[in-house]
Amino acid sequence: MQLWKGRFQKELSKTTNDFNSSISFDSRMYKEDIEGSIAHATMLGKCGIIKEDDAQEIVSGLKQILNDIDSGVLQIDMEAEDIHTFIEGELTKRLGDNGKRLHTSRSRNDQVALDIKLYLKKEVKNIKKMLEELVYVLCVKAEKYSDAVMPGYTHLQRAQPITFGHHILAYAEMFLRDISRLDDCYKRMDEMPLGSCALAGTTYPIDRSITASLLGFERITNNSLDGVSDRDYCIEFASVLSIIMVHLSRFSEEIIMWCSWEFKFVELDDAFSTGSSIMPQKKNPDIAELVRGKSGRVFGDTMTLLTVMKGIALAYNKDMQEDKEAIFDAVDTVKMCLTAFTPMIDTMKVLTQNMRKAAAGGFINATDCADYLTKKGVPFRDAYKATGELVAVCIEKGTTLEELPLEEYKKICDVFDEGLYAEISLEKCANERKVLGGPNSDNVKAQAQRVKNILEKK
Ligand code: ARG
Repeated sequence: MQLWKGRFQKELSKTTNDFNSSISFDSRMYKEDIEGSIAHATMLGKCGIIKEDDAQEIVSGLKQILNDIDSGVLQIDMEAEDIHTFIEGELTKRLGDNGKRLHTSRSRNDQVALDIKLYLKKEVKNIKKMLEELVYVLCVKAEKYSDAVMPGYTHLQRAQPITFGHHILAYAEMFLRDISRLDDCYKRMDEMPLGSCALAGTTYPIDRSITASLLGFERITNNSLDGVSDRDYCIEFASVLSIIMVHLSRFSEEIIMWCSWEFKFVELDDAFSTGSSIMPQKKNPDIAELVRGKSGRVFGDTMTLLTVMKGIALAYNKDMQEDKEAIFDAVDTVKMCLTAFTPMIDTMKVLTQNMRKAAAGGFINATDCADYLTKKGVPFRDAYKATGELVAVCIEKGTTLEELPLEEYKKICDVFDEGLYAEISLEKCANERKVLGGPNSDNVKAQAQRVKNILEKK
């Protein structure tokens, strides 16, 4: 049944009805739709626009519908045009004329904007909580491996010694920024659009502050055209979700590499790995690969939202119905990824011996060798050149800087002495980087504690 029937003589064809309908994806907002209607009816009663008794009857009718949907007594009719139509139709079926009074001074245009905001506000909080859990897990891992030496990379070439704790905390920083982006996004989303009506507001003496406070909104939208046609909050949320997926995807890529025999820095728990149907030896990091792959969906959802919105004149246009599948998919995908990702990280085994072995190859202490000379007064450029020559000697002899005899060092620069070997030990190289933000073990522990303190204040 369409709400707008009066003007029309013919029924909508089945195909048009299906094409036009959004109930298959907006039915998930039934709670928010009812919550919004309860607040609206209460306000109408308080302002004397409908009788208090009628308002009360509407409110209890809506509560009953909510109970019935929750308990499965009432099935949502998938032939309805959308969730708003369904709930109002059901209320009218139950209450008669009082059901028909609910939509006084309201349009589906402000109603749908309200429902999405109510729904997304909850999801911003849910995802924030999930990220906080992940960050906490990262802190615990970082503390445990604060002094586990591993090679740090640039260009995927071994570069300088760092600690595993240091590497892991880089991701904690990224996710902390994501959390603060979610906070910002929430603040801007927290504006109540009801009362914008179709586009031009209303002549009824409504009090928008009543609905806003009943629904827990911080502010009220200030322009009725903007109130119904704004979807910035969907775009912004999807953008934040996209950045989260960038971080999860980069992390996944590292996990995938670290699981390979070429690295073998970590081993995933059996519960988060899969085998091959043909190769009995295989243990595959499918979960991480899926997370990496799913990032594309969320970027696509963001692009969908931008494209839907970019060319439509004010105010509401039906194009905007396309917002929901995109933002819901982005939300669902990020939640699914986090549900799998956090325990995968929590349970993975860190193979510190292999990291240490990898750190021993690749001359990652070459900078420290040059710094050693510099600290003894050799200009850095000369020290750099001498060390480069030493690396070439090591490559030729198949050895490392740690094992190269002192006389070979002296052949290239006579400033070298026995003290060199202590200076280029990998543990020392990693640990001497005590600069704020560096891989030094105490630093890592302090940073992990700092991040945990931030989480505690949240
Ligand atoms: N199902 C619609 C949507 O999701 C609700 C708003 C309909 N408003 C309208 N004027 N047709 O956008």
